[in-house]
Amino acid sequence: MVKKWWKEAVIYQIYPRSFMDSNGDGIGDLKGITGRLDYLKYLGIDVIWLSPVYQSPNDDNGYDISDYQAIMDEFGTMEDFDEMLAEAHKRNIRIVMDLVVNHTSDEHRWFVESRKSKENPYRDYYIWREGKEDGTAPNNWGACFGGSAWEYDEETKMYYLHMFSKKQPDLNWDNPKVRREVFDMMTWWCEKGIDGFRMDVISMISKTKEMPDGEVQGFYGNANPYCVNGPKVHDYLQEMNEKVLSKYDIMTVGETAGVTTELAKQYAGEDTRELNMVFQFEHVESDGKYGKWTDEKVPLPVLKKIMSRWQTELYEKAWNSLFWDNHDQPRAVSRFGDDRPEYREVSAKMLATCLHMMQGTPYIYQGEELGMTNYPFRSMQDFRDIESVNAYREWCESGHVSHEAFWPCLTAKSRDNARTPMQWDDTENAGFSKGTPWIGVNPNYKEINARTETEDKNSVFHYYKKLIGLRKQYPVIVYGKYELLLEDSKELFVYTRVLEGEKLLTVCSFSDKEVEFTVPEEFVGTDCIISNRENAYEGKMVTLEPYEAFVLYRR
Ligand code: GLC
Ligand code: CA
Repeated sequence: MVKKWWKEAVIYQIYPRSFMDSNGDGIGDLKGITGRLDYLKYLGIDVIWLSPVYQSPNDDNGYDISDYQAIMDEFGTMEDFDEMLAEAHKRNIRIVMDLVVNHTSDEHRWFVESRKSKENPYRDYYIWREGKEDGTAPNNWGACFGGSAWEYDEETKMYYLHMFSKKQPDLNWDNPKVRREVFDMMTWWCEKGIDGFRMDVISMISKTKEMPDGEVQGFYGNANPYCVNGPKVHDYLQEMNEKVLSKYDIMTVGETAGVTTELAKQYAGEDTRELNMVFQFEHVESDGKYGKWTDEKVPLPVLKKIMSRWQTELYEKAWNSLFWDNHDQPRAVSRFGDDRPEYREVSAKMLATCLHMMQGTPYIYQGEELGMTNYPFRSMQDFRDIESVNAYREWCESGHVSHEAFWPCLTAKSRDNARTPMQWDDTENAGFSKGTPWIGVNPNYKEINARTETEDKNSVFHYYKKLIGLRKQYPVIVYGKYELLLEDSKELFVYTRVLEGEKLLTVCSFSDKEVEFTVPEEFVGTDCIISNRENAYEGKMVTLEPYEAFVLYRR
C-alpha cells in the first residue's frame, strides 16, 4: 500500500466557538486556539481540522458562510488567523480548513444578488424553480433541519433550494462560474499555506436535472436519491483536484453522507484523483426511532459488522476516517461506552483502543481525549442548535410524539452535546471563558478537565497520548490487514491486524459485566502494548473486567 503522511497522521477537530475564549465575550476564538496549541502538541496530534471560522450570520454556527475570505468577527481577525497558522506550523501541526461549498449563507453577496431578479448575473449561482400551479413548492422534498427544502422568495416569486436551513441556499455546481469562484477561493487559502480541506457534505453538490417528488419519510419527501452522490459529483471533484488540489501538498477529507464502500473507492480511491479520504457515517447512523432521534444503543454485532466491512472492503483500494463522534454527534463515551462515574474512564479508554487500532486516519473531537460526556439538558431553553430546536417543534409541538417519548431521544442525540465548552480546569466556566459562555458548561467539569487529566498519568488523556504514540511506532497499526474474530459475540469486539510478519490482537469488551476470553494460541505470552486495566493480562484464559481493552503484539 502506498505510504502517505495523512495515512499516518492523527487529527484533532476543533469547534472554535466552544474551544477557548480569550477575551471574555463567552465565545471561543482564534487567539484562544493559539494559546492552547501547546496542549495539543503535548497530546501528540499532527493535524487540526478547524470547523468554519469564516464570516457568518451563524444560523448554523458558521456552516452558513457569507464571506469565504474573511474571518468571523467573533473569532478575531485575519491577522489572528495568520498568527495561529504560523504558531501551529512552528509546532509541526498542520491546519485543515472546513470547506462549506454545497451552500452559502443567504447573506452571501452572491445570493443577495441572485435573489434580486431573474436576469441578475448571479441568478444561476443558486437553484431556482417555479412553484407548482397552485403556488406550492416545486416538489415535496424535506430539508435536513426540518421543513420543506424550498423557500419562496417574494422578490421574483420563485423558490430556491436549501437542503439545510432556509438561510443556507444550495449553490448550483452545474454553473461553471460557481466552480471557478470556489476553486479560486480554495487556491487563495492554499497560497496562504493551509494544509488541507475537510469538505462539508461534498457528496451533495451535484443534483439531478429532474426533480420529482421523493418517497415520503416522516413529514416530507426524501431528496437523497436526487441530491446525494448525484450524477456529476465525481466530475466536479476531479476538476477540483486537477485545478487546485493536485498543486499542493495538502490533505482532503470528504464528508460523504450516504456513501457506500463501493462509492468510497471512487471518492477516495488510491488512484481516482478525487479526495484523500472519506468521512462516512454508516456506523453512527444505524439507529433512530423518530428520524435520527433515539435513546437506544446500537447492538454490538451490528456495529462490528458495519465497521468491519469498511475495514476489509477499502483495504488497499481507498482510505477511510475513523471516528466515534464530532460536532454533529453526541459524546462518544455516553453513546457507545458507559458514562456512569464508575465506568466512564475505563469505557472511554476501551472505545479509543477499539478505534485507534483500526485502519484509517483517526479523528479526535475536542474533549473526547478527556472522556467528556453528554450534557444533562433540563429544558428546551438549554438548546442552541437549529437542528434540535426545529426537531422539537416538528416532532413534539406538532403533536406527533409526546414530550415524554421524544425528550430522552432528543437529549441523547442532540448535536449540542458535543458543543458545550471544552473543560480546561476546575475554575469557573471550566476555564473556558471569563464571561458568560454562549452555551451551558457541563456541570461535571470539576472532575473532568484537562488540567486534572494532564497531571494524572492514568487519565483518559494520557491513554490517548499513548495510543497516538503507538501509531507512530508500529506500521502495522497504519498499514496492516484487518480481520474480525468472534463475529457474533454481543460483548466483545476482537480483531487482528497483520503486516509482513507483524501481528496485533485488539480485544475490547463492550460489557459492564465480566466476560471470559480465550487468547488465541499464537498470542499467548506475547507483549501487551497497551491496556486500560492496572494489572495487565497474563496467560491463556482471561476474565475480562467490565469494558476492559488490551492489545497484544507479536512478530
Ligand atoms: C455538515 C456539518 C454540519 C452542518 C451541515 C450543513 O453536516 O458537519 O455541522 O450543519 O453540514 O452545513
Ligand atoms: Ca471570544
